[in-house]
Amino acid sequence: MGFREDFLWGGATAANQCEGGYDEDGRGLANVDVVPIGKDRLPIISGKMKMFDFDEEHFYPAKKAIDMYHHYKEDIALFAQMGFKTYRLSIAWTRIFPNGDEKEPNEAGLKFYEDVFKECKKNHIEPLVTITHFDCPMHLIKEYGSWRDRRLVGFYENLCRTIFTRYKGLVKYWLTFNEINMILHAPFMGAGLYFEEGENEDQVKYQAAHHELIASAMATKIAHEIDPENQVGCMLAAGNYYPYSCNPEDVWKGLQIDRESYFFVDVQSRGEYPAYALKDLERKGVQIEMADGDQELLKKYTVDFISFSYYSSRVASTDPAHNVTEGNIFASTKNPYLESSEWGWQIDPLGLRITLNTLYDRYQKPLFIVENGLGAVDVPDKNGYVEDDYRINYLREHIEAMRAAVEEDGVELLGYTTWGCIDLVSAGSGEMKKRYGFIYVDRDNEGNGTLKRSKKKSFDWYKKVIATNGTDLA
Ligand code: BG6
Repeated sequence: MGFREDFLWGGATAANQCEGGYDEDGRGLANVDVVPIGKDRLPIISGKMKMFDFDEEHFYPAKKAIDMYHHYKEDIALFAQMGFKTYRLSIAWTRIFPNGDEKEPNEAGLKFYEDVFKECKKNHIEPLVTITHFDCPMHLIKEYGSWRDRRLVGFYENLCRTIFTRYKGLVKYWLTFNEINMILHAPFMGAGLYFEEGENEDQVKYQAAHHELIASAMATKIAHEIDPENQVGCMLAAGNYYPYSCNPEDVWKGLQIDRESYFFVDVQSRGEYPAYALKDLERKGVQIEMADGDQELLKKYTVDFISFSYYSSRVASTDPAHNVTEGNIFASTKNPYLESSEWGWQIDPLGLRITLNTLYDRYQKPLFIVENGLGAVDVPDKNGYVEDDYRINYLREHIEAMRAAVEEDGVELLGYTTWGCIDLVSAGSGEMKKRYGFIYVDRDNEGNGTLKRSKKKSFDWYKKVIATNGTDLA
């Protein structure tokens, strides 16, 4: 019993948080490049403050990030040393289509990822590719208003066709949109949406979400046509809401907030807009413009598996007196039973088991945990070594919870990739200081450092976990 023999252990990154090389080999500019570190980051990622290009006052960490664009061979070799079975990474749309609306792709960009995937294969690592991890070409944002415009579906389709064809035989596992529900919470960073004053934000967000859902179904269709071996998944920022108390008002509120996220997977996995969503959109005054054939497309091309990120559970309360704490972009009521990370994210391993069970009950499709981990301040010694027992403890408890979900509850789980297996730029804060990796990278919040990679204590620990297929977590 325990994890399946072919369980996909590994780690995850996203192009904009690790690659750097933002203007190399013909790459175009994207929303994720122009989000700076500092106090303006939040208003910018939420679409309230406009930042369509670099300025002199801000520091933009994604420009160089950890320079994986030039270090990928060394980094993949380190992943292989840990015994990774899979490596989740994302493609930067603007390396392949610098503006997004070209007919022909940029060969240098295509070649880069081909080399990366070949390097993975050489090291017996199965790539798990996120087609868009928050990124949208700046040109599509300026000229079309990003995903609010239906034409984005066609541009995304072109991207998918290009990569599915070029990487046939190299890549089998695909995710269409990273944390698709983030469009509601971080609309500029998550989907390139910026709002003009007085605009009905819900209308824009849900229409854009509809276009992404159509694009996702289209991607699934094309992926299967090009190679029946392809497996396509959706990706949700997950973590159940608990009611703060047994007051039915709290329970009802928790259910309603959970549905804001499930809405996306309900469409991607069950193939139609759920009844509660139709009612809710009506109440919000949102009218989704659907094209002929949309409903059939959604119904016919549902995902093969469901992937998600899990950092924490959340709490819903109707009592405004309860304290709020930070979470993955969306804040939640503080749970008095849980400890928090240095960034205020609450730590709840059992919540992972609960989330796995909830998703499996709801969809009965294979699940894949594609993000989980602890963002912490690491203090390296002079050799770059970090004694990160806190990270090992966090991961151990979460792996134990997922083992219980598989072994004791019968949840079907394909794999587990920890977030930021090598230190990278934080999406929420733009900091380097918030580290998740097994591999320390010498770079700070201001962009200083040698970029040298060194193994932390957790490196050897995770290696052992993988080698024993999750049976030795000591
Ligand atoms: C998820 C994202 O929201 O959480 C990642 O998919 C992100 O891109 C991760 O980095 C952790 O969040 P943060 O803000 O700590 O980087």
